[in-house]
Amino acid sequence: MKERVEIFEVGPRDGLQNEPREIPVAEKIALVDCLNRAGFNRIEVASFVSPKWVPQMAGSGEVLAGITRAEGVRYAALAPNMRGYEDALAAKADEIAVFASASEGFSKANINVTIAESIERFVPILEAARHIDLPVRGYVSCVTDCPYDGPTPPEKVAEVADALFAHGCYEISLGDTIGQGTPDKIAHMLLAVRERVPVSRLAGHFHDTNGRAIDNIDASLALGVRVFDAAVGGLGGCPYAPGAAGNVATEAVAEHLERLGYETGLDASVLEQAADMARAMRAE
Ligand code: HMG
Ligand code: MG
Repeated sequence: MKERVEIFEVGPRDGLQNEPREIPVAEKIALVDCLNRAGFNRIEVASFVSPKWVPQMAGSGEVLAGITRAEGVRYAALAPNMRGYEDALAAKADEIAVFASASEGFSKANINVTIAESIERFVPILEAARHIDLPVRGYVSCVTDCPYDGPTPPEKVAEVADALFAHGCYEISLGDTIGQGTPDKIAHMLLAVRERVPVSRLAGHFHDTNGRAIDNIDASLALGVRVFDAAVGGLGGCPYAPGAAGNVATEAVAEHLERLGYETGLDASVLEQAADMARAMRAE
């Protein structure tokens, strides 16, 4: 039997959050509804952040209200603080993601707090979520390089990942936010993180700025990572990370994994359809 590798689709959130065109909610809903047929277990569709900071995510509640919920799919939403958590709950998100950084420069630029303050801010979210059995995922950004602080020490990534995991995040997604990772850097980072968090609870989140995302996925696979975030059509970027190009494209990752002999459970023809839709959303 083939070994399973899961792709966590982040296109409707990470893919669209940085698009300059104001994308109508109906288009976002249509993209999620198409992705529903691809075979994902988890799709990140919303982000309850300040609309002043990320205007593109302002319609997140309407997106969650408008999508057709497919059986077996969990719809995830980002929440930077308690207000975002409550808004995500009200919109019936199936899981939440909190997002920290392994570098102080990006933490300040992205969420306006230090790393330590961000973890403190996430603790009440994790406690509230635990009471109602709502899964919370944790992101760590800038796992190899930061646009403000330069190279990130692997030990710092391990420390932040460990803190999020200890406070109750069920999975830690390690973000190469600006796509400066190389297989070597990713391997060093993962070896440090694996000491503190079981590799079965880690995910790789690679932006493809330098075209190295697939190589970095290979390096992560070799060290036991079996979950990867990706965005259909290779959409993506972060408004607070200059140089952050698109996320690695879901359809390319799925094809690569299948070629390596892994099973993703995804339907390539639906992925192509969704990728066309995503690219058209960018181009219009
Ligand atoms: P702040 O300015 O320090 O905080 O922002 P504030 O409390 O003064 O709030 C500012 C305004 O936002 C206020 O409104 C609040 O009410 C409002 P005003 O009084 O000025 O009218 N506000 C909110 N509105 C809606 N929902 C909320 C919320 N909270 C406050 N939840 C804050 C701090 C965290 C809010 C801000 O910095 C923020 O929203 N940052 C989000 C940035 C972001 O979304 N970045 C992209 C996602 S991270 C990413 O892409 C990386 C990832 O993909 C992994 C990787 O690639 O590495 C995950
Ligand atoms: Mg990202």
